Amino acid sequence: MEALAKGSVVAVIGSGAMGSGIAQIAAASGHEVRLFDTRPDAAAKAIAEIGKVYDKLVEKGRMGAVDADLARERLKTVDTLAQVSDASLVIEAIVENLDAKRTLFADLEAIVDARCILATNTSSISVTAIAAPLRHPERLVGMHFFNPVPLMALVEVISGLATSKAVADTVYATAEAWGKDPVHAKSTPGFIVNRVARPYYAEALRLLLERAADPATLDAVMRDCGGFRMGPFELMDLIGHDVNFSVTQSVHAAYYGDQRYTPSILQQELVNAGFLGRKSGRGFYRYGADAAKPAPRVEPAQERPNTVGISVRREITNSIVSPMEARLADAGFSVTHREPLAGAEKHEAPAFHCNGAAIFLTDGRSATERAAANNHPNTVVYDLLLDHAKATRIALARADQCSDEAYYSVVGMFQAAGFEVTRIDDVPGMAVMRTVAMLANEAADAVNQGVCSAIAVDIAMQKGVNYPRGPLAWADSVGIEHVVTVLANLAATYGEDRYRVSPLLRRKLAANPTGARFHA
Ligand code: NAI
Repeated sequence: MEALAKGSVVAVIGSGAMGSGIAQIAAASGHEVRLFDTRPDAAAKAIAEIGKVYDKLVEKGRMGAVDADLARERLKTVDTLAQVSDASLVIEAIVENLDAKRTLFADLEAIVDARCILATNTSSISVTAIAAPLRHPERLVGMHFFNPVPLMALVEVISGLATSKAVADTVYATAEAWGKDPVHAKSTPGFIVNRVARPYYAEALRLLLERAADPATLDAVMRDCGGFRMGPFELMDLIGHDVNFSVTQSVHAAYYGDQRYTPSILQQELVNAGFLGRKSGRGFYRYGADAAKPAPRVEPAQERPNTVGISVRREITNSIVSPMEARLADAGFSVTHREPLAGAEKHEAPAFHCNGAAIFLTDGRSATERAAANNHPNTVVYDLLLDHAKATRIALARADQCSDEAYYSVVGMFQAAGFEVTRIDDVPGMAVMRTVAMLANEAADAVNQGVCSAIAVDIAMQKGVNYPRGPLAWADSVGIEHVVTVLANLAATYGEDRYRVSPLLRRKLAANPTGARFHA
């Protein structure tokens, strides 16, 4: 399907944060843009601001001076809706209110040509519901941009029940022509990103509620071990707790109270207190000139142990344990291969061993539970790392039964391998593993329910919220089997439906127990 022709008219209704960003890129991509806003002068002010942005882009060498002048000429305000009659595409970015949007589109239908595509930038309202009263609901589609529009590459192209495939495909191709990375999605609560991202906040809030560590420590673990650009607490502070809480509440309500999306009482209290994050000067952190950013918890330097062993019982060496072995070898440890723990289950290999401590990648059980199951008190678990070679930090949890001597020798081992070592309390699944498993679970359910493809969900999370890796690609690299084990152990520990395993993960695993993957 072809993109809208350059030179064709794109009308943008609403010139706030989103509408002006959309107008900026549409004009820069060669369209004649008509910008309309009901607030007097709002559209004109927006166009003046866009002009300044073009100037800055020219200064930085990211836009040619001639291109900027041409784009500026293509941007025009209109005073009445009737003046968008020549549009090939109208993108609505007005208030997030169903009635307001329905009224606008009903008015537009009487103005525009029969072939004009109507698009809504809604982030939370059903596209099906917005389209329903139209005479031609097949021409309405969601075109969900992310804030700030010029910088965020993702566009979710949302089809409601009536949306025609040709309309969705044209909008997809047009977004691509504008330099974006579009994905197709079905109109369902939260679409892709606002649904699949829920566990990033929810698991962090649960970890804090259970006192795994303080926000600064958990943020550091998510950044330095998980490779996320921002930790969940600093990110929620940036988004604003009122906004983040209300998105969670709306997704939770839209799925009829599914426990997966249960809002957190911790966040409710922040909202109650008016501690909304950066914008109010206080959220999880304090902001302002005299506010010092708290440091994450780090273990003091320990002696380097003499020997490190690894036991591998599986035929396929776990793809996430081999790189750890490589990093330990790089640190000068001669990692000797030894027998697994006597009497332990098959899945208890591979493990590292050091001064009597058994060290496992977390499998969703607490270290304490695992120590008891293996009858091996000196048990330490570590959290998932995005990149073993580059990670600057490792998070450990020690069993309640573990001796100080055994634990600190493990700390010394990881320190010798160049990690800052952060201990979090012994919560099941730790921080990164639990979050990634839940993100992959949610992504798998979205695919299983036909909301989007596996490729689309991974693109959406990387381009819409800057995740370092798509959740399903992450499941591939951790191993779908391990992800299922983590989730099943969390489900067993909490007894909550929240941690139920997606049927698609189970199906993939059953079809191919040793090599299940989402991506080739
Ligand atoms: P905003 O409040 O900055 O701008 C909305 C603009 O629409 C205002 O200038 C207002 O005067 C104008 N407006 C209101 N009713 C109008 C009408 N009937 N006709 C013409 N203009 C009207 O809002 P923002 O943040 O730009 O959001 C706009 C839409 O985009 C909403 O549906 C929102 O849910 C969606 N969205 C917002 C994102 C964000 O991060 N801010 C991200 C993705 C989508």
